[in-house]
Amino acid sequence: MDDASRISQLRAELHKYNYQYYVLNRPEISDLEFDQRMRELQDLEQAHPELYDPNSPTQRVGSDLNHEFRQVVHKRPMLSLANTYNKGEVREWYERVSEGLSGQPFQVCCEMKFDGLSISLHYRGGQLQYAVTRGDGVQGDDVTDNIKTIRTIPLILPEGMDWPEEFEIRGEVLMPWESFEALNREREAAEEPLFANPRNAASGTLKSKNSAVVAQRRLDAYLYYLLGEEIPGESHYANLQRAKEWGFKIAPQMRLVTSLQEIYDYIDYWDVERRTLPVATDGIVLKVNSLAQQRSLGMTAKSPRWAIAYKFLAEKQTTILREVTYQVGRTGAITPVANMDPVQLSGTVVRRATLNNEDFIRNLDLHIGDHVFVEKGGEIIPKIVDVDLDARDENLGPRVEFITHCPECGTPLVRYEGEAAHYCPNDAACPPQLKGRIEHFISRKAMNIDSLGPETIAEYFSRGIVRDPADLYEIRREQISGARGQKDKSASKILMGIQNSTKVPFERVLYALGIRFVGEIAAKALARNFKSIDALASASLDDLLQVNGIGAVIAQSVRTWFQNPQNQWLVERLRSYGVQMELTEEELSEHTDRLLGKSIVISGVFALHSRDEYKALIEKHGGKNVGSISTMTSFVLAGENMGPSKMEKAQKLGIRLVGEEEFLKMVEHDN
Ligand code: IVH
Repeated sequence: MDDASRISQLRAELHKYNYQYYVLNRPEISDLEFDQRMRELQDLEQAHPELYDPNSPTQRVGSDLNHEFRQVVHKRPMLSLANTYNKGEVREWYERVSEGLSGQPFQVCCEMKFDGLSISLHYRGGQLQYAVTRGDGVQGDDVTDNIKTIRTIPLILPEGMDWPEEFEIRGEVLMPWESFEALNREREAAEEPLFANPRNAASGTLKSKNSAVVAQRRLDAYLYYLLGEEIPGESHYANLQRAKEWGFKIAPQMRLVTSLQEIYDYIDYWDVERRTLPVATDGIVLKVNSLAQQRSLGMTAKSPRWAIAYKFLAEKQTTILREVTYQVGRTGAITPVANMDPVQLSGTVVRRATLNNEDFIRNLDLHIGDHVFVEKGGEIIPKIVDVDLDARDENLGPRVEFITHCPECGTPLVRYEGEAAHYCPNDAACPPQLKGRIEHFISRKAMNIDSLGPETIAEYFSRGIVRDPADLYEIRREQISGARGQKDKSASKILMGIQNSTKVPFERVLYALGIRFVGEIAAKALARNFKSIDALASASLDDLLQVNGIGAVIAQSVRTWFQNPQNQWLVERLRSYGVQMELTEEELSEHTDRLLGKSIVISGVFALHSRDEYKALIEKHGGKNVGSISTMTSFVLAGENMGPSKMEKAQKLGIRLVGEEEFLKMVEHDN
């Protein structure tokens, strides 16, 4: 291939990857491969200035701008770091620095490179003023409201600690592994698409327009760069230690070193030990410690000369594809699975990897017998990222063709417009769909029938005892006791577990029904709003859309579900066995109309409850929480440090300020 064609091929590919990464939040190649291709393109373009293109991917730094947030221009541009991938490149950087400092001794601060998204926090007078994402490096999104939900970011700094009157501190917002895995488990249960890694999850979360969602998702932040006119010390490390005293979360892995060997040791140590950290890291950052030396080294157009990143290699292995099998989920979605020769990856043996969907398989031109690259970076599920075309030989098997019929029940598959997945439409009889719905019904967050598990369900299913969740309540003791050596005692336990589930509150029953896209949170919102299954079943699309947190996709799915006679019949049978189909008196009575007709603005910082809890309280008592003060506002629920503009407006319009305690009295007692 000549250079000109390679350039246009690389540009096309990089545009596509850029889109997948920034817009879809679903990258298909590793960062390393992305960077390698970008480098190759940069080199080729340099050698061929006649092929200049102002819109080449090399001409833009990725942007995460989202125009629904207020745009803020950075006081100081947010540069990125040059990347290195091996010790040789690290040595070259070290020597360049030494030369740049004319042989003066220098210290290097070694830190973890956190794999989240960078954020710039601005403080004045010890208070968080605003928070901005990196955006395109020049301007970013104002995500202050969302940032405030991150508990490890101080909103107010402790008195008497000598922090500068005004400063900026930058760092990385992260979703810890634990939160990430919990979130994906929840999404899996609701059959929502999974986040590929914690970075995408953190970025999707931080850009959510609903800061309540952000608060639930448990983000974290490490700070690694202090800037300002009057920052305390002349060393990067010392400044961050001060910031730590002011309440910022500073990574404890930071080390000061004075030789290349110590840098290598740090790299080798953390390349292994990073697996024990609670958050994702993708490399090491090396920074010249002295600020005076930093200044004398200066910047290039894109990145500082005084710092560099060393990126860990994503763990990737090659193995051979033997077979593609297909799984059918409880909603009928078909997932193609690669079955491969076993291979060691991040300490576990991997035999299977997801192939996503038909387009993915087609884009790889996948054949049985192909040598495939399997990667397990931040992801829980290993995935195939590429095929080694050069390794193909006469043993290559046939091209992988996506199935046309359900592997379980033989029904022709369908693909809905705009969706990448294929579905088996036979929801009334396809066995894994039936079993999957029962398994979901009994799961912990649904009916929590823990005396039953997937194996028992599979056995009852194959014996024809259960086909849908209502059948569980019709099981007779003689059908299950004695079977397969089952003792009477365990039969009693199972029956008791099923019987007890009739006490499970309505909102969890609604979740247990397994309506597509109705996860735990949506189920809660629907239950509280409609109060009974009959009201929900007869709600129009418009009624549904009125509910906070319910969008078009969920609303339509609820309508479709209730229109199906089979589902109506299921509800009737469950009801006849005593399953909760409405909020109980008790649940209803927690709701009052003490604040009925009141429009209430919440402002400031609270000591007794969180903002979300106050919002929930307002709604529970019939009031409405509104965002801005107007003549219609009944009163402001005011905490500490209410914003000056709100304060002024309230005064001007003569709107009363109600403190926390007074508010609690208002809703807790009849008056
Ligand atoms: S310092 C001018 N330190 O990596 C130097 N960055 O490409 C500013 N990152 O955008 C960055 N961990 O999002 C620095 N310990 C660390 C870091 C770190 C992760 C990210 C950051 C930045 C990117 C650099």
